Amino acid sequence: MEKKNKVFIATSLDGYIADKDGRIDWLHSIPNPENIDMGYKEFIAQIDALVMGRTTFETVCAFDMDWPYKKPVFVLSNSLTKIPEKYECKAVLVKGTLKEILNKVHHKGYHRLYIDGGRTIQSFLKEDLIDEMTITIIPYLLGEGIPLFSNLSSRLDFECVDTKIFLDKVVQNRFVRVK
Ligand SMILES: NC(=O)c1ccc[n+]([C@@H]2O[C@H](COP(=O)([O-])OP(=O)(O)OC[C@H]3O[C@@H](n4cnc5c(N)ncnc54)[C@H](OP(=O)(O)O)[C@@H]3O)[C@@H](O)[C@H]2O)c1
Repeated sequence: MEKKNKVFIATSLDGYIADKDGRIDWLHSIPNPENIDMGYKEFIAQIDALVMGRTTFETVCAFDMDWPYKKPVFVLSNSLTKIPEKYECKAVLVKGTLKEILNKVHHKGYHRLYIDGGRTIQSFLKEDLIDEMTITIIPYLLGEGIPLFSNLSSRLDFECVDTKIFLDKVVQNRFVRVK
C-alpha cells in the first residue's frame, strides 16, 4: 500500500493558520451562501486517518458541534498523558519520533494520512515527510499569528499541480513534493 502524508489547510495571505490569539473564525468570514466545502469532502474520502497536533485536537474538542471526523485520529503530544475520557473512542494519543509514530500508524493499516496543525506540519516538513499540500489562501493579511511554515535546514521543492478559485475570492493551490 502506497504511503502518503497530505496537508489540507487554509492560511491567510501572509501564511498564518490562526491569528495571534489562536482564533480561526476569520477562515469562515467570506460569504459562502451555498456552503461549498472547497474540496474537503473529496480530500477526506481519500485518506485513511488523521495525525494532528495537540493544539489542533484541543481546538476541535472545543468546537460547539459533534465530533467532525469519521476516520481515526492520532494526536501528537508529549504533555498529554491520556486522551480526555469524552474523546477516548475518537482519538488515540501517540508519542515518539515521527518515524516511530508513522510506523505505529502504518502498522495499524492506515497509510494515507492527513497531517494537521502548524507545528505538526512543520515537524513533518523538517524531516521531508510531506508528499502533498492543498493550501487554501484567505486573502487577509493578519500581520501576526500561528504560521504554517518555519525554518528548514534545506530547500524542499514542490510542484503546483492544480489551482482553483472559490467564491471569486479564495485561491486554492495543490502542491506535490518533487524529489
Ligand atoms: N487554518 C487551518 O486550516 C487550521 C488547521 C489546523 C489547525 N489550525 C489552528 O492552528 C492552531 C494549532 O497549530 P499549532 O502550530 O499551535 O499546533 P499543533 O501542531 O496543532 O499542535 C502542536 C502540539 O502538538 C504536539 N506535537 C507536535 N509535533 C509533535 C511531535 N513531533 N511529537 C510530539 N508532539 C508533537 C505538541 O504537543 P505538546 O505540547 O502537548 O507536547 C505541540 O505543542 C490552532 O489554533 C488551530 O485551530 C488551523
